[in-house]
Amino acid sequence: MGMFERDRQVFADAEPLDDSYEPEDVRERDEELEKYQRALQPIIDNRPTSNIFLYGKTGTGKTVATKYMLSHLENSAVGYDDVDLSTVWVSCENLSSSYQVAVALVNELRKNQNKDRISTTGYSQQRVFDLLYEELDALGGTVVIVLDEIDNIGHSDDILYGLPRARSNGYVDTVRPVIVGISNDFKFRDNLSPKVKDTLAEKEILFPPYDANQLRSILEPRAEKAFHDGVLTDDVVPLCAAFAAQDTGSARQAIRLLREAGELTQAKDSETVTEENVRDAQDELEKNQLYQGMQELTTQGHAVLCALAYHQALDEVPVRSRDLYERYLTVCDRLDADSVSERRVRDHLSDMHMLGLISVNERNEGLSAGRYHEYELDIPLKTVLDVLNSTSRFEELSDIIKSTADDNNLLQSGISDY
Ligand SMILES: Nc1ncnc2c1ncn2[C@@H]1O[C@H](COP(=O)(O)OP(=O)(O)O)[C@@H](O)[C@H]1O
Ligand SMILES: [Mg+2]
Repeated sequence: MGMFERDRQVFADAEPLDDSYEPEDVRERDEELEKYQRALQPIIDNRPTSNIFLYGKTGTGKTVATKYMLSHLENSAVGYDDVDLSTVWVSCENLSSSYQVAVALVNELRKNQNKDRISTTGYSQQRVFDLLYEELDALGGTVVIVLDEIDNIGHSDDILYGLPRARSNGYVDTVRPVIVGISNDFKFRDNLSPKVKDTLAEKEILFPPYDANQLRSILEPRAEKAFHDGVLTDDVVPLCAAFAAQDTGSARQAIRLLREAGELTQAKDSETVTEENVRDAQDELEKNQLYQGMQELTTQGHAVLCALAYHQALDEVPVRSRDLYERYLTVCDRLDADSVSERRVRDHLSDMHMLGLISVNERNEGLSAGRYHEYELDIPLKTVLDVLNSTSRFEELSDIIKSTADDNNLLQSGISDY
């Protein structure tokens, strides 16, 4: 046998735990699906249809619910001769402006007719919009245009102004566009420009985070398919559901956790997935996330983190910003790096707070000391040192901090203690 041997002990079929897997049914979203259905109903009745906007954090089932509704809508439309329906789907994940979204839409519409793609640059915005109207008009009937993760376009929201008005402005005359916008960001709507808000008559459907019971019910049919009989101990699915519910309420997170637990089990050549495997998987995923957050920091960010890690290793936390800044200056000195102002350092600290790396307390000591901030790590020192150690410039400093921490017996605690 070679290095890779087919392993079938744990997983019967890993597909249901994959991001792209489409489940047979959408669970625990009866209310939302009912609203969704009511919002789409006018299409079948050949009545004017409002645009629809879905809001909810990532992993709350917006995409899967939309795929589900559209496939039912398409199936039903076939039964009515006088309903001429097409759908077009664009994921705006990597698109940051209305221009790019319009190009993507044109190309998606052209693809369906085997026409050549247009270039993503070089046209004026108006020209791309014209091409879009042309393609839409050629289709005719009702075209449901799904703009998934539309919040990525930020303030560049012209397309949400142009499309709903295309007909009243005479840009198109045979087609009725219906926009389904999906956003992970609740604030997206508030931040739309006033002219868009006025034009975009819309129905809104909110997708709240899932609780543990809902996540359990979403996980169960997948777990059933993905694992061989008897591989999962009883606690595994409930625990994955509980972890994800506590953290984000995201089905995506719950599914990832279950898969990671299975993979860890498989890597250990073990035959049953246990509660412990889930806890290890949770640590692993959390660590990956923090790692990513930390690795994306700049050198200055790393220097600030390094200073805070030093105080942590000395058991001098929480540390006041003034003392932390002093330490930061010595870190820069050792690194032979330029230092920035105390104010900039505070900006870096607040970024790290946002990333969940550190905690900040505001203290108010009255007239004597005034108001000040105190900082400490919100993640294990060991994890920080691992990252610093893998950043060549910080290797030496992280070794120093590590031995300081060892002297103070401060390195045993791992992420699992959280
Ligand atoms: N109600 C649900 N029933 C079944 N699977 C779900 C449900 N909600 C989410 N999922 C699954 O969870 C993952 C994330 O859902 P998705 O629809 O992509 O979330 P969003 O688009 O809100 O980020 C997908 O694999 C999806 O199939
Ligand atoms: Mg989605």
